[in-house]
Amino acid sequence: MYEHLMMEVKGQTAIVSINNPKSLNALNSATLAELNTCLADMEQSKDIRVVIVTGVGAKAFVAGADISEMVNATAAEGRDMALLAKEAFRRLERMPQATIAAVNGYALGGGCELAMSCDIRVAAENAVFGQPECGLGILPGFGGTQRLTRLVGKGRAKELIFTCDKIDAQEAYRIGLVNKVVPQAELLDFCLMMADKMLSKGSYAIALAKMCIETGIDTDLNSGLNMEATNFGLSFATNDKKEGMTAFLEKRKATLTDF
Ligand code: CAA
Repeated sequence: MYEHLMMEVKGQTAIVSINNPKSLNALNSATLAELNTCLADMEQSKDIRVVIVTGVGAKAFVAGADISEMVNATAAEGRDMALLAKEAFRRLERMPQATIAAVNGYALGGGCELAMSCDIRVAAENAVFGQPECGLGILPGFGGTQRLTRLVGKGRAKELIFTCDKIDAQEAYRIGLVNKVVPQAELLDFCLMMADKMLSKGSYAIALAKMCIETGIDTDLNSGLNMEATNFGLSFATNDKKEGMTAFLEKRKATLTDF
């Protein structure tokens, strides 16, 4: 169905793999367009509640935007590519499903930017992160200047972007770029386990919490708190709230099904 992606569904978790192994899963426009379509379909789905994003092969998550496509691109084409990535990556942040990046190797440039668009990043021990764009005479264009700054702070973001230094998984963990580091052989199983943990919670509640976090970070504290209060109220009108609290009081495991 897709030329540049592989899709696998395990229960209520979808695994989307970038599949351009000859270029270490570099993101060309066709891949970005497929990713956008795939995520647009998935965000409407009631059957998929967690999405794992990874790269095919043992060497790379995504080694960046496709340099062979960009080398002769005009200014307008460069901007269009960035806007296409913006549309696809924004979906990861806005879709009701929780998203996990399973970073299985190089996550450079657009690859680091794709990982940063996911809700959570789990890195294999061999993962390498970096924003090498300034070394190519361009700047990060798939969200790096914005998302890296929000994740690790202005000083560290500027250092990584200006020096183009590559950092390993442990350093990425130390600076807060990734949530967890696990042995490479265990990466997917760990992410699936994390997904299962989320699936046992209220998916609708998680979707509301995600929306509050994503919208709240771009607003002032008071507006964010008001939005949280509204969504907190909304969650009181769900079956999950009744079941979750009743189960607690009856000392049994809750079965939460809203989404
Ligand atoms: N675009 C296109 N092709 C790429 C690529 C990329 N980003 N990264 C790797 N490839 C290709 C290589 O050209 C090579 O192709 P051939 O076999 O046809 O020669 C193949 O993938 C394997 O790569 P290497 O031989 O270079 O593998 P290596 O193990 O020696 O090095 C690497 C691995 C350090 C990741 C190196 O490939 C590399 O530095 N890649 C480029 C990383 C980069 O600069 N990324 C940022 C791109 S710009 C960007 O992403 C802009 C943005 O903000 C969106």
